[in-house]
Amino acid sequence: MADAADGTLRSRFALRARLLSPLAEGGLLDVADGLLETDAAGSITRVGQWPERDAPDALDLRPLVVLPGLVDLHVHLPQIPNAGLGSGLDLLTWLDRYIFPLERAYDRGVAEEQAPQAWRAFAAAGTTTVLAYAALWADSTDAAFAAAEAHGIRAVIGKVMMDRVTYDEGIDPVRILETSLRQSDELAARWHGRDDGRLRYAFTPRFAVSCTPEMLRESAALAAHHGAYWQTHLSEDPGEIGEVRRLFPGARDYLDVYDRARALGPRTVLAHAIHLSEREVQRIAESGARVAHCPASNLFLSSGLMPLGAYRAAGITVGLGSDVAAGPDLSMFGVMRAAAATQRVLELTGRAGSSRSLRPIDWLRVATLDGARALGIEDGVGSLEVGKEADLIAVDPRFTTPLPGADPPTVADDLASRLIFRPHPNMVRAAWVRGRLLAGPPGLEGIG
Ligand code: GUN
Ligand code: ZN
Repeated sequence: MADAADGTLRSRFALRARLLSPLAEGGLLDVADGLLETDAAGSITRVGQWPERDAPDALDLRPLVVLPGLVDLHVHLPQIPNAGLGSGLDLLTWLDRYIFPLERAYDRGVAEEQAPQAWRAFAAAGTTTVLAYAALWADSTDAAFAAAEAHGIRAVIGKVMMDRVTYDEGIDPVRILETSLRQSDELAARWHGRDDGRLRYAFTPRFAVSCTPEMLRESAALAAHHGAYWQTHLSEDPGEIGEVRRLFPGARDYLDVYDRARALGPRTVLAHAIHLSEREVQRIAESGARVAHCPASNLFLSSGLMPLGAYRAAGITVGLGSDVAAGPDLSMFGVMRAAAATQRVLELTGRAGSSRSLRPIDWLRVATLDGARALGIEDGVGSLEVGKEADLIAVDPRFTTPLPGADPPTVADDLASRLIFRPHPNMVRAAWVRGRLLAGPPGLEGIG
């Protein structure tokens, strides 16, 4: 173990465990008795079979399984306290009743209290990379970043921007656009790329309903200027879509509102994207924009069923988002389960297209490597491969067996199936980013 000069605990370490990971070139790393080693900077230097000879000193985690950390591509930090509330309401009513009051109250003090708890909760759920919305307030967004910096999680965060429908009662309506742009610009200058790119900024106009064309256009220009992300919601709910049609009568469709703002590109992440025309699907693919599929949220608010197979077939990079609080749970294992259920219903009702049904092991790839690809960071994270950063989780599959004492499955797809369909809140025992252990999970005491 070695402390880095900057005082953060970065340690060279080796661990022995079952290893399971998608591989960038396709296929799977599936090693029953494996070794994973990192260097002091937290990069993976060795991964594979436990050696018969010259084995290093290693943390013996057997029978735990080590996976790449999960990527949550869409979540709202201020909304976490209301997770699980308001099921069955339509989106716009739910936002008014359950969300805007909560976000309005998310000032610096609340963020300083809640954000550290939130980052620990993500780590406890096995999530090591998060793309998050904060609230409208610059100072609480700053506090959320500071908490992520201290915690060690990999985070992309943005101050929400709204200059049309807004919950900001104090602001001068004439200056609302300019203020939001200036504050977002300052936050990006301060945080985008911090700690060798562990922290990044996402310009975050909430959705077309709450933004003027100027806000969409200027925020996209700023994102391009900083090389930062641009995130928003797209085509989630019929009421919302009708409102967009009313507010932007000149646009061909919902996506076109963002296209006209020159906001579509590889650093753009569009959440939901459920009710799209063929034209919109093709245009997203052509622009390189990414989609955050939020199936647990879409079931909770009865928003609809996103046809993932068709989007993948069109060449769109799709990752998964919890979308808490419209999604009831931070656990990406639960989100994978909702994604599988969504796909089943589409298949049963003849709407899945000709795409192959995803297996549990495929869902793990969507929640790790595909999430990393959606953020353009797949060269650094998303799988257990030499040269990548050690963003890992250790999961105890014994928590998922139906009866105590039974052996976990040995076949990779069965093991993934148990984690997805029978997850347990305590099964993630540890999580690391760049080899640094994150606070949150219960820990490895008594293992090995
Ligand atoms: N559309 C605009 N804002 C939101 C939000 O906070 N949650 C969800 N699910 N959809 C949105
Ligand atoms: Zn959302």
